[in-house]
Amino acid sequence: MKVSLKSLILSSILGLLLTGLSAQAHTPVVADYDSKPIYADLRDLNALGIEVLAKDDISQVGYAIINPEMEARIQERAHQVGKCGGFEALAPSTGSFLADPIAGLRNLSLRVQKDQMYEMAPLKLASVPKSDVISAAISQLSEANLQASVQWLSSFPNRFNKGTTPNVHVEQMKQKIEQMLLGTNVPYTVSLIDHTSTKQKSIRVRFEGSSKPDEIIVIGAHLDSINQSWFGGGNAPGADDNASGSSNILDAMRVASQNPQPQRSIEFFWYAGEESGLLGSAEIAQSYKKANKNVIAVLQLDMTLFPGSGEMVLGSMTDFTSPWLRDYLKSMNSTYLNVQIVEDKCGYGCSDHASWYRQGYPTLMPFEATMKAMNSKIHTANDVITPQMSFKHSLVFSKIALVFAMDLANSDLKQLY
Ligand code: BES
Ligand code: ZN
Repeated sequence: MKVSLKSLILSSILGLLLTGLSAQAHTPVVADYDSKPIYADLRDLNALGIEVLAKDDISQVGYAIINPEMEARIQERAHQVGKCGGFEALAPSTGSFLADPIAGLRNLSLRVQKDQMYEMAPLKLASVPKSDVISAAISQLSEANLQASVQWLSSFPNRFNKGTTPNVHVEQMKQKIEQMLLGTNVPYTVSLIDHTSTKQKSIRVRFEGSSKPDEIIVIGAHLDSINQSWFGGGNAPGADDNASGSSNILDAMRVASQNPQPQRSIEFFWYAGEESGLLGSAEIAQSYKKANKNVIAVLQLDMTLFPGSGEMVLGSMTDFTSPWLRDYLKSMNSTYLNVQIVEDKCGYGCSDHASWYRQGYPTLMPFEATMKAMNSKIHTANDVITPQMSFKHSLVFSKIALVFAMDLANSDLKQLY
């Protein structure tokens, strides 16, 4: 038994090395002015006959330079198969990735190979024990708070990072947070984070860990919104995308602040400029990596309000996320949630967890539904609260954030590779 497992792993390593990254011999010398470099799902690029300049068979990500006509075709296909934008532009903020997209692919490939090795390992240690304190805290989470907060955030005309007032809602959100934390016994700081790639600011709340302050649990959501439709007046209420995730982590923070100080530090982030290319999170994750910060786990909540696959049926993204945290979610589910979890893929770095994953940090991204059943109104003026939305469904995501804050921030679990 032992021997066959060993040889299975060895042959898999060999297989992975042989089938890994490859770059085509011809690299374009000139790209015309309205072309852009992107990463996209390799299968989409191949199906559309778009030239792939470099690819990674392990993560199924391809690098290409596309013109507007190709962009339109990728988007059309993405919509057909139920994806959002369908690709990820290599924005200037992703710095090294723009300068060296092939190195970016290579790093991603190595990362995914290690995660695949973990998935083959016989021991799974990421389990969530039942605690009465956490059960009691979960019952303090509130659907009414979620509704009020989604309503409030989606009543701004937009929260667009390139709008005329990109920080009005950010300042007001910060005030709301400060109000909420008055009276907590947990030592905390609230800060606005400036960015170079956008005028919009991100918000960070740090709960200082009691015994392991240098070990950080990140709980995040993007606060910005966008309107990408041609007609629609330019309003971007972004109720589902992503007032919902922003509100989940706000309510989880409230309840966590009324409980004992965690052993590890917890950092809550409301990111800027996600819709323009993961701008805020890319800068933050890069700076954390540079400063050698010990981020143990990153939870991303982006779209939690539309129960497209059924109430209490959640998606869990398997790309740009870590298998041990997906196991952790499954164990949390049997201990506290009792929902159905369906694994699915974005096919590209579709939200801020990808920024952290690229810097080598472990991530998790639970999602409102499967990709093909997700809310189709996002990025339009119609992303508002409707009778199809479910705050009961969304409450599950507040619970996930709270278990991160109360269980993972008090445990020794970490990625060992
Ligand atoms: N909320 C979406 C991401 C999303 C879409 C997640 C579908 C899961 C399923 C996010 O805000 C978004 O729109 N992301 C962009 C990509 C980003 C790199 C600009 C997208 O998907 O086009
Ligand atoms: Zn979006």
